[in-house]
Amino acid sequence: MSAPVLILNQNAKRETGRKAQSSNIAAAKAVADVIRTTLGPRSMLKMILDPMGGIVMTNDGNAILREIDVAHPAAKSMIELSRTQDEEVGDGTTSVIILSGEMLAVAQPFLDRSMHPRHIVGAYVRSLDSSLAVLDKMCQKLDVNDRDSMMALVRSCLGTKFVSRFGDLVANLAIDAVLRVTIDRPDGGKEIDIKRYARVEKVPGGMLEESLVLDGVMLNKDVVHPGMRRRIENPRILLLDCPLEYKKAESQTNLELSKEADFEAVLRQEEEYIKNLCDAIIRLKPDIVCTEKGVADLTQHYLAKAGISVLRRLRKTDNNRIARATGATICNQPDEAKESDIGTRCGLFEVRKIADEYFAFMEKCREPKACTILLRGASKDVLNEIERNLLDAMNVVRNIVFDPRIVPGGGATEMAIATSLIAESKSIEGVEQFPFRAVAQALEVIPRTLIENCGGNPIKLLTSLRAKHADALKQGTTCTWGIDGNKGELADMSDLKVWEPFMVKSQTIKTAIEAACMLLRIDDIVSGMSGKGQGGGGAPAAAQDAADEDTFGDARDG
Ligand SMILES: Nc1ncnc2c1ncn2[C@@H]1O[C@H](COP(=O)(O)OP(=O)(O)OP(=O)(O)O)[C@@H](O)[C@H]1O
Ligand SMILES: [Mg+2]
Repeated sequence: MSAPVLILNQNAKRETGRKAQSSNIAAAKAVADVIRTTLGPRSMLKMILDPMGGIVMTNDGNAILREIDVAHPAAKSMIELSRTQDEEVGDGTTSVIILSGEMLAVAQPFLDRSMHPRHIVGAYVRSLDSSLAVLDKMCQKLDVNDRDSMMALVRSCLGTKFVSRFGDLVANLAIDAVLRVTIDRPDGGKEIDIKRYARVEKVPGGMLEESLVLDGVMLNKDVVHPGMRRRIENPRILLLDCPLEYKKAESQTNLELSKEADFEAVLRQEEEYIKNLCDAIIRLKPDIVCTEKGVADLTQHYLAKAGISVLRRLRKTDNNRIARATGATICNQPDEAKESDIGTRCGLFEVRKIADEYFAFMEKCREPKACTILLRGASKDVLNEIERNLLDAMNVVRNIVFDPRIVPGGGATEMAIATSLIAESKSIEGVEQFPFRAVAQALEVIPRTLIENCGGNPIKLLTSLRAKHADALKQGTTCTWGIDGNKGELADMSDLKVWEPFMVKSQTIKTAIEAACMLLRIDDIVSGMSGKGQGGGGAPAAAQDAADEDTFGDARDG
């Protein structure tokens, strides 16, 4: 008898066939169950202790999942879904997980009956095409220039969030901020870069009502010298990314001096260099000089004498934002700067003290195209949650500016798709019609969860909702009835004004079905970890965040 051949490392764990599929499904369901209660307007929040010891309080799907430390590979890939959703469209991160968890759950009975995953996947892919076709048919166009309809959309996105109790305040902030950074490109397209040009500054204390979108930028900086002006109207702004100090050599240098006079000569040279630097700056007559690097005491002295205020050690990203808001160009060498590099679009520069810190405001810019959103609130944790909600809302506004199509929310869209899938499944021959119909069943998880979360009766409500949609389908129309997530009863979404961007909904459905297909096709799980430094989901997420913060390596501060 031949000895068994060992291919895998003995530490490796392996699951194959049906067992692998079942464990994937169980893991996906477990992840979905974690965040099921955070869907909809009556959602709960989660409180999570992060690896650094801080707490996160949120109901944002992605924010919850990225803090959770999971071991199962399928659960990890589920969490990745919500991250992708967050990066791609910003909203719908809870829905996508719940939906894909359910897509997998409804496949279990077929696997138990030994249906080959290929059939299930085939039916799922087919149902995706049909779903997108229905979505296309039922969407409506929203007038982006109509503030009221924009408000209604953002309100329904924020209605599920912590900030909903502050009314329209955050919705207004989001719309203002996005419209401010929108640029019409010459080719007719639009450019909206929220991440880079709309920065959220959180200052704990005060009231949320004091939050606002500045028509310009704000920095957590004070002028470097007490003698410099702290309030300037219509300032001329020069932006630099070089140090205003005596240049030090790149590598270590040794100077050997033989006479005392040589030492003076060296010092004089340094002073002369700085004097020339300052003269080059003063020649341009700026009122404010901002640099990303340091500023020497002597430079401060010369510039203060010339009536110039200086801010130092700005972040690269802040500098870019000022450049865009004021029309300045960032220069590398003061003596090469030209008049056209000076920014003149700012109306008021002022250093103000908020709570215990000094902030430099550059406000009243003409057509700023970059802005800072100043958030005030009770505490750091509350502010973090408000920021996450605001980012969701800003993404929704951005999506709608790019693609002004909307679909009804509150489970109405899912229900309409489900009804039409069931009708279509009758025309499918062979074994694939059953998984095809199961997709319809899975889509109902969204209205069902909305009902459950506000304590309604799922069976009764879903049955009558199904009937309503089936009637509409018979008449060849689509109906917009769904669940009123606050009262737990049926409601017409066009009366309730709960709308969602087409982009978010289509992305959610696409991601959910595709992810389910991927996981269903796995028949072998091999976990051959090498043992060292295998953290779970938590640690990489933290590292991810650090990388996300601000690129350009500019953690220094002055
Ligand atoms: N007033 C409402 N009544 C009923 N359903 C609503 C209402 N407002 C929003 N919804 C629905 O709630 C769902 C969105 O919930 P929620 O915002 O909690 O999760 P999400 O958008 O999937 O994820 P994220 O955590 O990223 O926001 C959507 O299906 C939406 O249609
Ligand atoms: Mg949402």
